[in-house]
Amino acid sequence: MTEHVYHIAIEEQRHQGGVRTLLEKAFGPGRMMRAIYRLREGTPPDPALCFVMLNKHDLVLGVVRNYRVCVGDNPRAALLLGPIAVAQSHEKLGLAARLIRHTIETATAQGFDMIYLVGDPNYYGEFGFTATRAAQVKINDLEEGKLVLGLELTPGAATDYAGIMRNDESVLLNQLQGWR
Ligand SMILES: CC(C)(COP(=O)(O)OP(=O)(O)OC[C@H]1O[C@@H](n2cnc3c(N)ncnc32)[C@H](O)[C@@H]1OP(=O)(O)O)[C@@H](O)C(=O)NCCC(=O)NCCS
Repeated sequence: MTEHVYHIAIEEQRHQGGVRTLLEKAFGPGRMMRAIYRLREGTPPDPALCFVMLNKHDLVLGVVRNYRVCVGDNPRAALLLGPIAVAQSHEKLGLAARLIRHTIETATAQGFDMIYLVGDPNYYGEFGFTATRAAQVKINDLEEGKLVLGLELTPGAATDYAGIMRNDESVLLNQLQGWR
């Protein structure tokens, strides 16, 4: 059991160096060219939904960031899970699975209806994500072979989210208002 050895915390300023290193190693410089990166770009992730996996020395071994997104003309924001990365030295211990489950639990508690991600249904299916639940959602310029998956947090919610996914500009507006 990894629960006693590694713990999940909200990502804070002091984790930034560790997080940056993990993401750079996991996705490389080519990540900026990807459609999903361009979709997230421009708005910060939801700070209440960014988590790190730490060891007892507070070393960052894993990270998941989550972004608020809008789909079509639905005024309610959905969540876009990712990026998620785990240090190579600590892969296959179930750390990513714990970060995903924690995201699902927290998003549910915060009242989100839907979580989306781009990923492999063979892995994410275990957490309830399916392509069917995201069948009405389109990400502009998504690379061939990449699949959008969706998880309903509210039964039946998938039918309310149809159209193009874009970043939630209210996040940016709120941030700008905070700066005034
Ligand atoms: C993908 C990643 C986050 C998984 O972290 P992890 O802590 O090792 O994952 P878990 O221990 O929870 O799960 C391990 C199992 O799930 C599989 N798995 C995990 N994430 C997966 C993914 N995104 N797609 C397909 N399979 C995946 C692993 O291959 C492994 O399977 P196995 O035990 O049958 O060999 C990690 O390998 C990583 O950082 N990779 C680079 C970045 C990346 O690809 N992120 C995901 C983008 S969708």
